[in-house]
Amino acid sequence: MWSLTIFLLTNIVMAMSQIHENVLRERETLIEKELKMMVGHSIELSDSELKANEIIMDLKREEIDYGFRNPKDFNLSKHFFEYKEQVKDTKLYKILKSMPKGAMLHGHDTAILGPDYVLGLTYYDDLWMCFNEDESDVSFMFSKHRPTGLCGTKWERAKDIRENTNVTEFDTKLRKFFTLVIDNPQEVYTDVNTVWEYFSKYFIRTGPLFTYKPVWEKYYYDTLLALREDNVMYIEIRSVLPPLYDLEGNTYTSVDTAKIYKQVTEKFKKDYPDFFGAKLIYAPLKLVDRQTVKNYVKIAKEIHELMPDFLAGFDLVGQEDLGRPLKEFYPEITNTSLNLYCHAGETNWYGTSSDENLFDAILLGTKRIGHAFALVKHPLLMTEVKKRQIALEVNVISNLVLKLVDDPRNHPLATYLSQDMPVVLSSDDPGPWEAEILTHDFYVAFVGVSSRHADLKMLKQLALNSLYHSSYSEKHNLVHEFQIRWTKFIDSIVKDQWVHV
Ligand SMILES: *[C@@H]1O[C@H](CO)[C@@H](O)[C@H](O)[C@H]1NC(C)=O
Ligand SMILES: *[C@@H]1O[C@H](CO)[C@@H](O)[C@H](O)[C@H]1NC(C)=O
Ligand SMILES: *[C@@H]1O[C@H](CO)[C@@H](O)[C@H](O)[C@H]1NC(C)=O
Ligand SMILES: [Zn+2]
Repeated sequence: MWSLTIFLLTNIVMAMSQIHENVLRERETLIEKELKMMVGHSIELSDSELKANEIIMDLKREEIDYGFRNPKDFNLSKHFFEYKEQVKDTKLYKILKSMPKGAMLHGHDTAILGPDYVLGLTYYDDLWMCFNEDESDVSFMFSKHRPTGLCGTKWERAKDIRENTNVTEFDTKLRKFFTLVIDNPQEVYTDVNTVWEYFSKYFIRTGPLFTYKPVWEKYYYDTLLALREDNVMYIEIRSVLPPLYDLEGNTYTSVDTAKIYKQVTEKFKKDYPDFFGAKLIYAPLKLVDRQTVKNYVKIAKEIHELMPDFLAGFDLVGQEDLGRPLKEFYPEITNTSLNLYCHAGETNWYGTSSDENLFDAILLGTKRIGHAFALVKHPLLMTEVKKRQIALEVNVISNLVLKLVDDPRNHPLATYLSQDMPVVLSSDDPGPWEAEILTHDFYVAFVGVSSRHADLKMLKQLALNSLYHSSYSEKHNLVHEFQIRWTKFIDSIVKDQWVHV
């Protein structure tokens, strides 16, 4: 009797453990399968890459696992302004900084360099400024004589102001006008529209400072320099192509501005032959009427005719929730022979006109989509984008600072990465939020968004994606050079480990 009971129990236990084992095996198979759906799954790592990967993944897991146990101390779930400087000291950040990151495919020209750089520009000769009554804002103008333009108080030469005041204090005050970074962003930047108001003022305020021709050329040249230092090889830069001016009273048209960009690019490539240069995406403001868009397209065509190799294409920019829906401009922007690189779905308002711009962008044949933050809510479009290989230019930190999402762990990029969507990482406007060209965005995406399992394969694929989805004409050269730099990068990580062991 007893032996029978024991016999039965044993059998039941064995059968149970068999079931457990089967489930466990199936679990592993499923996890494996899912990992093989991620961005980077098709990359095979070499022996050195595997070693480098171990080093990188130890650093990544250390940060994530610490956060998992102590969520209140997880830096990336705080505001970007709180951790942006601290993370620069981490080994992982330094590795990502030295990593070849390919191309920057989504950046707006006058918002790439930070406030310290912009402050430096206010030391140029012939700069005049005028503060508002309550010093809540400041205007700039380059001129030989006192500007006649209306202003809040009175125009003074920057040089004269500095001669008669404490320069350190003055510069601290002035620098605040070139950055969104403040101590209490959660209190001041309460919602999307409020933060965009501050953001828009940055562009309005700096306009007459940057559009002075010598400054314009210098800013762009130094942007290319900063890209190169951040291990970026090439950029497709978006510009509203504002008219420029100089001290002699000359003004320059949008077409002239495009020509200047081309000249400076050529000069830069001569000075730094290891840089692969730039192309231009003409991206004027979208909060305008149809006649204005028609005129934009005319300008774009003219630039295209003059510089077919330099102009990558056309886009419209500005806060999407406030701008006109793309569909209003169908007659102006279809059949133009221009390539489109549309911003679309930079919103968290599901089912609204800005959300539905995603449909228009795809139907209009956009080559890439700027942001595509809302795409995750559109299953059909997700399939279409993958089928047509329309790259998503994802800018995580921009979406955090501009209040689409507060915590990178909730960013839709996680979904795009998990199913190998054609993603490229970029930084949109790193200057006003004081991020480094691309490194901060790679860091936040790698540690704060991607799976704990996502590794060097993903990083490499993201960099490669930025080359494949660029409009650079000789992509094989670009990719070839990338591979050489990548091998050097891997060697430097592996060697570094030998030093420390
Ligand atoms: C996170 O922030 C704390 C201070 O709040 C700092 O000591 C720590 O080094 C940071 N960790 C990382 C990985 O940046
Ligand atoms: C200017 O102001 C700074 C900061 O308030 C102070 O440390 C410095 O001594 C001042 N310099 C002069 C020359 O007064
Ligand atoms: C664009 O051109 C194609 C073929 O050239 C034509 O079939 C189509 O109707 C045109 N669309 C518009 C909106 O003009
Ligand atoms: Zn943008």
